[in-house]
Amino acid sequence: MADLQSKLEAALTEAVAAALGDEHRDADPLVRPSNDPKFGDFQANLAMGLGKKLGAKPRDLAEQIVAELGDAGGLLDRPAEVAGPGFINMALSAPALNDAAAQLQPPTQTSAAATPEHVVIDYAGPNLAKEMHIGHLRSTIIGDALARVLTHLGHTVTRQNHIGDWGTQFGMLLQHLIETGWNPQGDHRIADLNTLYQEAKQRDDNEPAFAEAARKRVVALQSGEPEARAIWLALIDESVRHMNEVFTRLGVLLTDDDLKPESFYNDKLQETCALLEQAGVAKVSDGALCVFGESEDAAPLIIRKSDGGYGYATTDLAAVRYRVQEVGADRVVYVVDHRQREHFHKFFAAAQKAGWIGEGVRLDYVPFGTILGKDRKPFKTREGTNVRLGDVLDEAVQRAERVIAEKNPDLPADERNDVARAVGIGAVKYADLSNDRVKDYVFDWDRMLSLEGNTAPYLLYSYARIQSIFRKGGVTPDEAAGFAIDVSESGERQLVLKLAQFDAAVASVGESLEPHRLCTYLFELATLYHRFYESCPVLKAEDEPTKHSRLALCGLVAATLKRGLDLLGIRVVERM
Ligand code: ARG
Repeated sequence: MADLQSKLEAALTEAVAAALGDEHRDADPLVRPSNDPKFGDFQANLAMGLGKKLGAKPRDLAEQIVAELGDAGGLLDRPAEVAGPGFINMALSAPALNDAAAQLQPPTQTSAAATPEHVVIDYAGPNLAKEMHIGHLRSTIIGDALARVLTHLGHTVTRQNHIGDWGTQFGMLLQHLIETGWNPQGDHRIADLNTLYQEAKQRDDNEPAFAEAARKRVVALQSGEPEARAIWLALIDESVRHMNEVFTRLGVLLTDDDLKPESFYNDKLQETCALLEQAGVAKVSDGALCVFGESEDAAPLIIRKSDGGYGYATTDLAAVRYRVQEVGADRVVYVVDHRQREHFHKFFAAAQKAGWIGEGVRLDYVPFGTILGKDRKPFKTREGTNVRLGDVLDEAVQRAERVIAEKNPDLPADERNDVARAVGIGAVKYADLSNDRVKDYVFDWDRMLSLEGNTAPYLLYSYARIQSIFRKGGVTPDEAAGFAIDVSESGERQLVLKLAQFDAAVASVGESLEPHRLCTYLFELATLYHRFYESCPVLKAEDEPTKHSRLALCGLVAATLKRGLDLLGIRVVERM
């Protein structure tokens, strides 16, 4: 359809030139798919702009353009119609649609980007030595979906898991562990570390002498003191093991190869500061090295504290320089919650001023909102603590299992378990991805597990239903891919048009970095599929060619749903 759309655009450009003169060729035809099939398949919105430019009534101009357009070389079924203030509504002819249908392919391959870029994408990045909680969910799954989409679009993607393994939190934890005689060789579990972390935090807040010792412990760690280092390594080890376990359950792409911890940049921090100071981007103020913004009143970015310590911002500056200069990124994408907006704006500006970000290189901060409970406050346990991610995933699978048992009691137990994992984890991910990224959303089990509406279960069920048609019909989707599509019913025509929009939907996610656009597309596709299925019998079609044509459409819908869900990091099931 990208094709259909560009053909229509070209025809409109010719019509504009013929009706209004060659000098108006550059007017953007503004062709979009129609919102309502009653008004045809596409709408062009160019008459308003031309009206303004020519001081004429848009409707009159639209009439003149339509008269020249005719049937657009056979693309249109009937003359285009002018509506409202000057919209041009166009309905495609059957041959044009069949042509488009014949070009549809199951979207399995990676498409080649017009201008392939090297994209570094920074996501997940939990702070270590704590159990992963609900607050780590969004960056992990949004980032993962974006990594998949950008790869699909033909870009080279380098994933970076910027884990927090070096902050001041380690000072207090180490101090507490050393004081309580903790043995780094022991068998430590993340849950125990969690408790120890709480204890250390408690002491840090209440015992000034402990807090002081904790500060010194950070310095000791940084200068390589063996005792501190051994404990630190043991902490990192267990935290990374736990993190990987969660990643596996979530089905995200991140592996140890993607780890670029904060500590990786340690030996680059001094140089980073020196360069910023030399470039006049940073200056010493009250003993600290600071980057000031436009106004000297706003809080500066402190990149070296008065005691000589470096912080989160220093690491990010070293990291962005590394990513652009060493990794060779054309685009760096940071999937980090909205509360860090200021931090990103400030260090992006500093890196730009320092001249580290070459021309044409993009830095994208991709913020997201908070997950809320039903009370519309940040989602917490009843006790008011952070919800453990592991617990969320357990509950998702258990709940999905109940939904499936009710829907299909005959599914064998082990298959049911597997389906429950796909549906439960898929539901959690999809509920997150389908919401407008920058907004907060309410975590609602019943809604995300519903078999109706814009949910993973609905899409997975649609996919499984299509597979069951193939099983019943004794035809494989591969065989069906070879059948000719002949579009006649409205249900079929809408499906073909929607299928043809897949590439555009994925491309728009690549540009906007908003995965919900793909969710909306898949939901609309599934909805149109169900409408088609109700009005157009497949296995009981009136004749063999019609049956084949409809099976080919079913196969394309299934392949598109599967690929789309795959780009969101969600696995389909053959039955449910
Ligand atoms: N560890 C950070 C946090 O928990 C997130 C890291 C995001 N990435 C970055 N380059 N700053 O807030």
